[in-house]
Amino acid sequence: MADGNVRPESMERITTEALAQAFIDEQIKSIKAQVGDSKVLLALSGGVDSSVVAALLIKAIGQNLVCVHVNHGLLRKGEPEMVCKVFRDELKANLIYVDAVDRFLGLLENVTDPEQKRHIIGEEFIKVFAEEASKLQGIRYLGQGTIYPDILESEQGIKAHHNVGGLPPELNFELVEPVKLLYKDEVRVVGKALGLPDNMVFRQPFPGPGLGVRCPGAITRDRLEAVRESDAILREEFEKAGLAGKVWQYFTVVPDFKSTGIKNGKRAFEWMCIVRAINTVDVVECTVEPIEYNLMCRITDRITHEVPGINRVLYDYTPKPTGTVEYE
Ligand code: XMP
Repeated sequence: MADGNVRPESMERITTEALAQAFIDEQIKSIKAQVGDSKVLLALSGGVDSSVVAALLIKAIGQNLVCVHVNHGLLRKGEPEMVCKVFRDELKANLIYVDAVDRFLGLLENVTDPEQKRHIIGEEFIKVFAEEASKLQGIRYLGQGTIYPDILESEQGIKAHHNVGGLPPELNFELVEPVKLLYKDEVRVVGKALGLPDNMVFRQPFPGPGLGVRCPGAITRDRLEAVRESDAILREEFEKAGLAGKVWQYFTVVPDFKSTGIKNGKRAFEWMCIVRAINTVDVVECTVEPIEYNLMCRITDRITHEVPGINRVLYDYTPKPTGTVEYE
């Protein structure tokens, strides 16, 4: 393992605000020493790691950080708006917002194979990001939200270091990775100390291909919208019930399958919405959250009445294994 990629045994676990503050001060110095007056580019997804790196870099180099937020159309409801509000309006970041919704959804039209969908989303993301980078010219540094488990897992060959992944070599960036020796819980403590909102710092995991893997089969705009709206209702109801932050991951899936129902006294041939809520330590094995009956009834009532195109709600009782967390 490269020298700078080994966490020293003496490194104290960041569990308090004071320790986070000391880490922030130290990183600000080291970022300034590394990049000087140069600009740094960062792909800001709105996830915990890239958000914390952005907030750290803003503190260290201000307007010399250029954040690029790519909206691929597969983000959750309100997410692009939250990234713009927090980073552009509140932290005064130099933020480029790229609306690539039509581009991604156009490429994904009629694509049913899950792996091909993932591949298209990943490839296109790199293309969009590289295009933005080439418009800026002269940027030598790339900020990244690499964390310690990413380094350990890529060393052990468990997964490729997806953050570095397929960036075209001609971009030739030098990396700035201020949280690369931290574990996820430490990144959250640092994020909180940097003043990031709780819904950003303590958010549940969200896959890179986003809602695309929760809209099984070929993605259509109306069904994708049904996933997004039902997901927003589920999150709102879990929040109200005090389950947000307690249940590890929860979301909705809308398969391309219709059944007969009744709405306003008329036949309604519509999709069903599957609710999934799981708990885990390592994501290798997951158990199902036993959702209370009245809460499930409330969620069902709201989704079937508020989301166009949905006439039934089902709860997935399948642990992992045999089911994976995501449907694709
Ligand atoms: P599975 O479905 O493999 O999911 O049981 C395990 C965890 O990984 C997340 N996941 C992904 N994350 N890109 C990601 O960044 C992906 O393609 C992807 N697929 C699954 C999933 O949400 C769960 O937390």
